[in-house]
Amino acid sequence: MKKFYITTPIYYSSGKPHIGHAFTTLCADVISRYKRKLGFDVMFVTGLDEHGSKIEKIAHNQKMEPQVFVDLIAQKYLALWKRLNIKYDNFIRTSSDQHKRIVKTLMNNLNSTPDVYADTYEGFYCTGCENFITEKDLIDGFCPNHLKKPQLIKEKNYFFNLKRYLPIIKEKILNNELKIVPENRKNEILAIIKEDIPNFSITRRKVRWGIPFPFFPDQTIYVWVDALMNYLTVLDFPQERFRKYWPADVQIIGAEINKFHSIYWPALLLSLKLPLPKEIFVHGLFTVNGQKMSKTLGNVIDPHIMINRFGADATRYLLLSQFPAYEHGDVKESEFEKKYNSDLVNGVGNLFERVLTLIINNKKGIIEDKIPPDRVITDLLRSTAMDYQQHMKDYELYNALKKVFSFIKELDIYINEKKPWLMQKSNDPKLDGVLSSLLYALKQITDWIEPFLPEKTKKIRTYIDNLKEQRDKLHLFPRL
Ligand code: MSP
Repeated sequence: MKKFYITTPIYYSSGKPHIGHAFTTLCADVISRYKRKLGFDVMFVTGLDEHGSKIEKIAHNQKMEPQVFVDLIAQKYLALWKRLNIKYDNFIRTSSDQHKRIVKTLMNNLNSTPDVYADTYEGFYCTGCENFITEKDLIDGFCPNHLKKPQLIKEKNYFFNLKRYLPIIKEKILNNELKIVPENRKNEILAIIKEDIPNFSITRRKVRWGIPFPFFPDQTIYVWVDALMNYLTVLDFPQERFRKYWPADVQIIGAEINKFHSIYWPALLLSLKLPLPKEIFVHGLFTVNGQKMSKTLGNVIDPHIMINRFGADATRYLLLSQFPAYEHGDVKESEFEKKYNSDLVNGVGNLFERVLTLIINNKKGIIEDKIPPDRVITDLLRSTAMDYQQHMKDYELYNALKKVFSFIKELDIYINEKKPWLMQKSNDPKLDGVLSSLLYALKQITDWIEPFLPEKTKKIRTYIDNLKEQRDKLHLFPRL
């Protein structure tokens, strides 16, 4: 069986999850479910990034030990993933013993290369980014991402010779050995490489909440290095699971952390003499009503509120159908209800209700399955299937959904043209053919939506399997 290793970023344990975190995790979940259906041996991992000065500070402000604080946040993530039906195979926390132990081994390996050297760092550090920031990137002295003044830091650190690997990384990106998707994100990385990005320090002297740097315990490992290594530690590097699943087939990330994944991460792997991930898939970020989601602005959308209102499957759909992942997108909260009604209640929900009720009323739920489906339906099915499969293969979930939903509209048109209710009145012998074609199409739709709407799919299957006994309606998506 062919393996498929897929990862999400590990999210900062600095606060509870919002729809941005849910979006990436849902993308990975849908892709994993699709690949499992195709017969792949899937390893889907997600987790939490629990170290670093940002988390240390927040825990301190809340008068909590960092470990106690991150334990609480972990519960929030786990609870949300459970409610959203995220079927991960492994969940990694960077404060776990397994992670810390393996990071130490990896750091020892890194240390034994000529790539690590001591030096003094002097420069600006943004705690929000957990990254150094060059003076030219500041806007009026503020970090452009976090709109905060970075700290001026001067300390002795251990550095990594990134420059040594830039030409190799560039070559691997250009020949698609390391595929960065979409094209504009790939070009962004090539431009950063061209600018001659400096070496980076892989330790911190003043950050206590981190993994001690082996041999130099007055330093902790830089949180990004610690975090990136999760993709290996979760596989129990260098044991069997690692040997089976590494390299990752796709690593899904948001646009703001592209540099870390497409430059720092491959460089560390090259130094460790490990294969590079095959693909980095970079999705755009949500803004809410035109603004960046932020606690200060009070526009953070809590996925639980969406689940309470629409249910888990509908929330999955509403988030994934917002905008093509390749682009940035703006989310308007007021649109969720409209979309729920138009696509789910009046779209897929109504189609299933309509067709299944027709079959129950006309045929007592018994349908002749030997009749070949109508040509119009099979042609539509074939072209939709081809597009759907291609989009799913390219991880273009938004486009795959769009295809399915335009097929649903076509079926509505087909029903309105055929008018099976009149066919029944006039005892038209072609009625059986129309109904069996429609049932055939519904089964195909069920198959396509399964990775997106797993619970509703189960409900549909059970209903159709027992069509003869059905007395109640399917009620797929209740009207609000
Ligand atoms: N801890 C680092 C990642 C380390 S991976 C080795 C981090 N964490 S984070 O909590 O800030 O999560 C960032 C990721 O969450 C983004 O890359 C993206 O996947 C997701 N999103 C966070 N905000 C988002 C939006 N506004 N929109 C869409 N996705 C967003 O960076």
